[in-house]
Amino acid sequence: MTKSSIVKSLSEVIKERHSVRKYDPNFSIPKEEIEDILKEAVLAPSSSNLQPWRFIVIQDQEEKKELKKIAFNQEQVETASAVIAILGDKEMFKSIEKVYQSAFEAGFLDETRRDLLIKSANNLYPNAPEELRKEIAIFDAGLVSMQIMLIAKDRGYDTVPMGGFNKEQFARKYNVPERYFPIILLPIGKAAAPAHKTTRLPLEDLLIEYI
Ligand SMILES: Cc1cc2nc3c(=O)[nH]c(=O)nc-3n(C[C@H](O)[C@H](O)[C@H](O)COP(=O)(O)O)c2cc1C
Repeated sequence: MTKSSIVKSLSEVIKERHSVRKYDPNFSIPKEEIEDILKEAVLAPSSSNLQPWRFIVIQDQEEKKELKKIAFNQEQVETASAVIAILGDKEMFKSIEKVYQSAFEAGFLDETRRDLLIKSANNLYPNAPEELRKEIAIFDAGLVSMQIMLIAKDRGYDTVPMGGFNKEQFARKYNVPERYFPIILLPIGKAAAPAHKTTRLPLEDLLIEYI
């Protein structure tokens, strides 16, 4: 299915998104459409625009079946059209030059500003403790993941974010280089049954104070 011609507001898309765990196993999403979704999703903000997210897209039926085994046999891994694994880049500083050079070439930065940004990012990120770099990557991966879920919903698909999988086994199975680490799996597909409805804590519980 291509992008629906029924235009929904962002608010409707947000309210309609819920975690779907039953998918039509015969429905497939073309690779091109997954790429369109990812291209939009990566417009998410990230720390210093270093975009420390990476993706592994698992579409092959047998591979999904295998992946299910390391995701505690959660059915949606096998029946969704694809599973997008979101990985973090703990060496995001390796992208510094490319990111700012690209903004320079696009005419968004002059040479002086480009060099200044490269210098300050190079002072900061490579010297930051690995734990902090992982924290940054996890946060930014959360932002891109949310975008994927909303873009998918807007296109008539459903998703479920999944932290329930063995990350070490995943990294081994897909030969993930040491630089990257798996964060979340996002099955995406055509719903075969609606999501279980969920509620949220009342705002009074969440809003600590106005200052
Ligand atoms: C980080 C994270 C990990 C999650 N892991 C799983 C999971 O392994 N399996 C699953 O079925 N749902 C998982 N969920 C989905 C949550 O249960 C769900 O988002 C929550 O109950 C709210 O429901 P809703 O998404 O339908 O609004 C996860 C959600 C998040 C944000």
